[in-house]
Amino acid sequence: MTRPMERSAALFERAQQHMAGGVGSGTRSPRSGWRPCPIFVASASGSRITDADGNTYVDYQMGQGPLILGHRHPALVEAVSTTFATRGSHFALCHDLEEEAAAAVCARMPSIEQLRFGSSGTECAQYALRFARATTGRQKVLRFEGQYHGWSDAIHWSAHPSADTYGSLASPSVAPSSTGIPLAVGDTLVVATWNDVGLLEAAFAEHGDELAAVICEPIAGNAGGLLPAPGYLERMRELATRHGALLILDEVLTGFRVHPGGAQGLLGVRADLTILAKAIAGGLPVAAVGGSREAMAVVTEGRTMHGGTYNANPLACAAVIATMRETGKPGFYDDLLARGRRLGDGLVAAAKDAGLEACVSGVGSMFQLWFTTSPPTSYRDALDRVAESPFPTFHGELLERMVLTQPPQQGLFLPSAAHTEEDVDHTLDVARAIMPRVAEARAAGIVGATGRVR
Ligand SMILES: Cc1ncc(COP(=O)(O)O)c(C=O)c1O
Repeated sequence: MTRPMERSAALFERAQQHMAGGVGSGTRSPRSGWRPCPIFVASASGSRITDADGNTYVDYQMGQGPLILGHRHPALVEAVSTTFATRGSHFALCHDLEEEAAAAVCARMPSIEQLRFGSSGTECAQYALRFARATTGRQKVLRFEGQYHGWSDAIHWSAHPSADTYGSLASPSVAPSSTGIPLAVGDTLVVATWNDVGLLEAAFAEHGDELAAVICEPIAGNAGGLLPAPGYLERMRELATRHGALLILDEVLTGFRVHPGGAQGLLGVRADLTILAKAIAGGLPVAAVGGSREAMAVVTEGRTMHGGTYNANPLACAAVIATMRETGKPGFYDDLLARGRRLGDGLVAAAKDAGLEACVSGVGSMFQLWFTTSPPTSYRDALDRVAESPFPTFHGELLERMVLTQPPQQGLFLPSAAHTEEDVDHTLDVARAIMPRVAEARAAGIVGATGRVR
């Protein structure tokens, strides 16, 4: 190890006294690949993050996705601090900014006629499932292996199962992704393999008439940015409609990241219910669940409970309005995606120059580098590739040279609008310098998972 980490190590030691495991979320722990210890952040600005030891990194984790404008974007700082200073942080009563924020989101996503705000993706995913069950009067939900919809008991199943527990391809096991989840909930779920139309049709043939909903990440971000095969989402849409199930698109990662209208806008598929979080508010804890008037009627009519003390608080709404305004500027997504594509292509070229096979999954604003000739298409496929991948060396070498990415290969590069062409050039210089070591690691069989995914 060359970069200083003494202060982070000392803070981690201290944090373990009063915080379970010394971290605020499992994804920040050494178990998730942050070695030798978690990075303790001092401050961040634009595309850069500075840790407690004074190391400044180009940040491609971007807070796990929300920071679409970068750290501390002036428009967001101004909107949130002025709202706090002049109006207050929280009323738990109605105010004018709610409708302004909701209208700005609906204007970007035609499938969302109405919405409710919340504070986390987990919570809004749980609500979407509840609304779908209330609307259809059915109990079961079809979900996909390797996808993540938050940690609630209702859906945190088969998120990242190991090869010895995931069961057969045709009938994947329905496996809780944590201890402590009531096993009876498993009876309400059907699990399918991502991106196989035949298996999707078989799942609908067997369970379609019992399904309240099918839920998916339209681009499987939590499996490493796996795009849907051509026609796959369209077929899912058709099957859901034919069987009277709602299509829930979890756009927590993709919403306002891959296109002005999210993955729905990019891929041309219309959801009945959509879950949004992360980039909706540029880094403030805001989420939303919304859809057609019909799908939201259970809430409108007061038949289904939806609440939350902090929902649509003025700071949240100010952040949404500012983020929609900034990301709605002409060319925002063209520039973001083009810069990300140049980065991805450059990483592939650097790897190939070192004699490695390489490709990228996803799109420019959420992608991953794979040391294979083509990207994986399903979770199982990704898992097989991770087992043979020198990614841990790639990640560790980047970190030593102050380029911060998520440790698991099933994570993503998440560039923001604050990343400059110079940041990309610098990252590619680093990549060219480290790729021979990555190639050596592969030749020496130093391969496998960096850390637990979730
Ligand atoms: C696709 C997806 N859905 C839901 C969630 C849960 O969101 P939160 O962490 O805000 O509860 C995440 C979080 O990473 C996510 O990536």
